[in-house]
Amino acid sequence: MEHYVIKGGTPLSGEVPIAGAKNAALAILAAAIMADEPVTIENVPDVSDIRAIVGAVEEIGAAVSHPDRHTYVINGAGIRNEPVDTEAVRKIRGSYYLIGALLGKYKQATVALPGGCNIGLRPIDQHIKGFRALGATVRVAPPGLVEAKAENLVGSHIYMDVVSVGATINIIMAACLAKGNTIIENAAKEPHVVDLANFLNSMGARIRGAGTDVIRIRGVEHLHGTEYSIIPDQIEAGTFMYAAAATRGDVTITNVIPKHLECLTAKLIEAGCEVTESDDSVRVVASKRLTHTNVKTLPYPGFPTDMQPQISVLLGLAKGTSIVTESIFENRFKYVDELVKMGAQMRVEGNTAIIEGVERYTGANLRAPDLRAGAALVIAALSAQGYSEVYDIHYIERGYEDFPEKMRRLGACIAKVDSAEEERKAVNSFNLKVVNG
Ligand code: EPZ
Repeated sequence: MEHYVIKGGTPLSGEVPIAGAKNAALAILAAAIMADEPVTIENVPDVSDIRAIVGAVEEIGAAVSHPDRHTYVINGAGIRNEPVDTEAVRKIRGSYYLIGALLGKYKQATVALPGGCNIGLRPIDQHIKGFRALGATVRVAPPGLVEAKAENLVGSHIYMDVVSVGATINIIMAACLAKGNTIIENAAKEPHVVDLANFLNSMGARIRGAGTDVIRIRGVEHLHGTEYSIIPDQIEAGTFMYAAAATRGDVTITNVIPKHLECLTAKLIEAGCEVTESDDSVRVVASKRLTHTNVKTLPYPGFPTDMQPQISVLLGLAKGTSIVTESIFENRFKYVDELVKMGAQMRVEGNTAIIEGVERYTGANLRAPDLRAGAALVIAALSAQGYSEVYDIHYIERGYEDFPEKMRRLGACIAKVDSAEEERKAVNSFNLKVVNG
């Protein structure tokens, strides 16, 4: 079975470029079908969730070309508005964006209920509330198909009961082709909400206020083709920042928007790292053992839930007791049992992890329970003494492009292997590397 083999203990050093934001790209690739002209999208990360959403838009009749690894050209002119229910669609969370896109464009959408990482209940009641407020009738029909249709979509005033990235984006998509004005209050402010709004505006939509908690949309008749480049991935950047800190390394993370990383940077500085920002890069230097701190996940600009496992790994190595509170998803501590196998002293009480820092982790056989927790376990293994194996890496590949390759370029001993023979060769090469320096 494919897995990573890792020899820990090498401080990461060097430069690593960050790919386009997966969660922005999922929304933007779905929104691209709303035009009947070619839409060129650049800086799309090459990860399996993206291949799944592209497969889904192709299956419903969009013409898709892929001129280079990070660019897609999508033309939604040939869409057949049939029920969208394929394995790919059910696998990923982002396929729910096809509901907003199809409902906006055709006033009708039937899409299988979304999948995604098992990190909590993940209801879609706020999406449905928003579509209904715009005049759609929505029902969830067996076998798990969301059916939404409207004679006319009409702008409305919508208050979101919880701050939801997915619901905010879905409502924006439907509302930008509704008649009249829509106001979304208590909207999500994440960078990818802003990126989606900028993308739709470049197609002729009229959306203002994205990035604040009140978004105003004036409906337009139709959207046209565009060329657009996706923002850098805040979470991939944060993952490398925290990997640098956990291995006591010195890494410059390039092609980032430092503003999107502010709370991640603040926590690193609080824990004793040096972080220097420039226009489009951040350098993280961790020359000594970090100290404890407390973290609570919150909607942007708060600490992202998608970085909670990574900071817990870091705090597991810091001096003193840290408290990490997860307030977004109720099932996001599944990695703790794996870290305990490595010698971490952590326990979970409700939505809180209580972490007593240890000097070091020791290598172990690990299973990635989901995407971000998988990346966090890789960080733990890179900082540990000895060898680790990380299984279920398909989760990690959902959202990180060339993860082991990028780590290797920073000096890490990590390889993706699929047999005992490949593993033996990888371990030999790690040992040679240590001997030769
Ligand atoms: C998005 O999920 C991301 N996924 C997640 O990224 C990320 O963790 C999350 O936002 C929070 O930032 C994609 O963009 C594809 P939400 P989403 O709606 O949209 C509750 C990753 O690792 N809620 O903002 O599903 C919900 O249960 C992933 O890349 C409702 O109650 O998250 C949660 O408690 C995993 N009703 C909170 O709101 C709803 O209708 C925030 O969820 C919708 C959400």
